[in-house]
Amino acid sequence: MKKAFCLAMLATTLVLNCYAGKTQHDPPPGWLKKTTGIITFQLNKAAATYKPGLNPRSVNPNGTVRLAGLTDWTTGFFPGSLWYGYELTGDKNLAAEAKKFTLALDSVRHITNTHDVGFMLYCSYGNAYRITHDKNYLPALQDGAKHLAARFNPKIGVIRSWDFSWWHYPVIIDNMMNLEYLYWAAGEFKNPGYANIATTHAATTMKNHFRKDYSSYHVVDYDPETGKVIAKRTHQGVTDESAWARGQGWGLYGYTICYKNTKNLHFLAQAEHIAAFIMNHPRMPKDKIPVWDFDVHNATGVEEPAPRDASAAAVIASALLDLSTQVKDGKKYVDYAEDILKSLSSDAYLAGPGENQYFLLKHSVGAFLYNSEIDTPLDYADYYYLEALNRYLSIKKIDLKELSKS
Ligand code: GLY
Repeated sequence: MKKAFCLAMLATTLVLNCYAGKTQHDPPPGWLKKTTGIITFQLNKAAATYKPGLNPRSVNPNGTVRLAGLTDWTTGFFPGSLWYGYELTGDKNLAAEAKKFTLALDSVRHITNTHDVGFMLYCSYGNAYRITHDKNYLPALQDGAKHLAARFNPKIGVIRSWDFSWWHYPVIIDNMMNLEYLYWAAGEFKNPGYANIATTHAATTMKNHFRKDYSSYHVVDYDPETGKVIAKRTHQGVTDESAWARGQGWGLYGYTICYKNTKNLHFLAQAEHIAAFIMNHPRMPKDKIPVWDFDVHNATGVEEPAPRDASAAAVIASALLDLSTQVKDGKKYVDYAEDILKSLSSDAYLAGPGENQYFLLKHSVGAFLYNSEIDTPLDYADYYYLEALNRYLSIKKIDLKELSKS
């Protein structure tokens, strides 16, 4: 294992040396050097260890791996991480593994009972098509977009998130993430109705999900007959009125996407307000990795540190980098995201080679109050970390792949 990691590190060092010799840009920051070697090593090991269609999701308290099957909302993240890993490092084996793990999800295209079909297909097949332009990935994406759009109720003006449990017509802030899929599908499949659905969902959500300080509720439950709001609740936050950390990230990411696709300035303002809420939050720790809910101390009355959520930090970093490209002065967003990425790439969060069941990041929280996935690696923390790193490299004009070829 040590030998394999040394080889990965040697390749990375060669890439970085080429970079330093052949470009006028600043050399890549030191924290990136170790990171790229670890990513190559961990993703290759994970791909060799797990079976396509049963993807690594998190680590159970007893150390075993929780796997994501074909109906698990997180099932698209591991294939997506392999695609991002390939994009980041140029490692061809990662591309071959990404293809295998993506195609194993073919049956997901038939799922109709959740908005999560967006995460499941767009992160896997969506990245596969974006990177390879292989049209064989399109039929699954076409079916998934149709099923996601079919969950939209024009009377209420939102896509229904879940079909389970006691809710009447639940819409979660996470649902904002799947609008990117619909905007893309509107263009790819020449169906402007998909973009209208996405824009209407975003406008209704802006009206009903947000508080005066631009923090968001997790779940808004609507009356399917009248379209009126029945209740504003939480599912994964500490209380109905709290700011669940990952939810704030989902909202920030979602409104940035909506602005990029519509150029509607209300969406840009919303994204910037959410960014300000997060970045100026008095409870944001110095390393900029939030605890799992910004209001956990209010609910418990306990000041001792609550578990951090690296997945929320990764989503926030990726969203801020995207937002930085949409505004005149995006530097404050790049700087903040860079701080997050530095923290996530430090030994405190990034696993060493061979550790962490081959996940990249440690210390995320899935659903604290359900005693589920507390202080564990999570497949979506890794996915958004890799996405953020790719965005960072693109903004900083660092292309490790090209330089390694030259
Ligand atoms: N979409 C579910 C979660 O963020 O945990």
